Amino acid sequence: MGSSLLFHGDGKRAKSFFTRALKLDENCLSAHWLLGEYHSTQDEKEMALVHYRRCLEIAPDRQGPAFMIAALGEDASPDRAPDDYVSEFFDWYADHFESHLTENLKYIGPQEVAKALRTVRPDGVGHLIDLGCGTGLAGVALAGLASRLTGVDLSGAMLERAKATGAYANLVQLDLVSALQAQADGVAEAAVAVDVLVYVGVVESVFAELKPVLAIDGVLIATFEEGDHIEDWDLSAAGRYRHTEDYLRKTAANAGLEVISISRTSLREEYEVPVPSLIATFQKRG
Ligand SMILES: C[S@@+](CC[C@H](N)C(=O)[O-])C[C@H]1O[C@@H](n2cnc3c(N)ncnc32)[C@H](O)[C@@H]1O
Repeated sequence: MGSSLLFHGDGKRAKSFFTRALKLDENCLSAHWLLGEYHSTQDEKEMALVHYRRCLEIAPDRQGPAFMIAALGEDASPDRAPDDYVSEFFDWYADHFESHLTENLKYIGPQEVAKALRTVRPDGVGHLIDLGCGTGLAGVALAGLASRLTGVDLSGAMLERAKATGAYANLVQLDLVSALQAQADGVAEAAVAVDVLVYVGVVESVFAELKPVLAIDGVLIATFEEGDHIEDWDLSAAGRYRHTEDYLRKTAANAGLEVISISRTSLREEYEVPVPSLIATFQKRG
């Protein structure tokens, strides 16, 4: 009940459920975790830290609490969100994901990426890899533009929903880098990364592993949240990475990907405020 209320913006009532849960079991991991999230959304950093630190004590093997403590600025940011944090978070989020994102947060990433692909490939492409495919929103938006879709994601629950869309010929449960390493050279005419590189700070390894997988002239269309007054990238208190346009240009050039376009836009809201985002199209040259 509490997590559902929190997702749908009723933090106050959500908090009362978490507090009641802690009265029944003071070591209730999910209540501490969600109270951490609640206080973080209220800008109550010290209270958020209390709960995330309790999570660390209760479940020292989980990487999520340390990641959120780093996101709150108490530790150095890791290069990317830990795999177990991503898979556990999205396994738990999967039921709410589509309604929360599209209705509450007015998310339009998949449609905008489809539009960007149509601009550079009006006749569509053959094999396309959807990196961090989630529940398959992008697969559905891209279905008429690619003759074969492969989806990659760490979360089994998100992949189950992607499978149910019927849009994907193949679904792979791995992290982005391992999934790309498992692909044959030149196998994809396009790749998309829609709202997934917000869980990766240092994107070098993703670009480097994608390059051989793309056919000559293959394209990558990726979305990012844009950081202001930061160097290259940073991790926000919400546990999402932000990047600068300069960093993306530099990283693409080092990986041998040409920048076709990078445009400023907003793909979703946070607290009813549009989140500054970038949508970038890269192309592999021969
Ligand atoms: C915000 S959702 C976006 C899903 C989908 N692309 C969309 O636009 O609806 C991010 C997805 O990326 C996946 N993800 C995050 N980091 C990942 C990683 N390193 N490797 C594979 N999947 C990852 C998550 O499990 C989640 O399903």
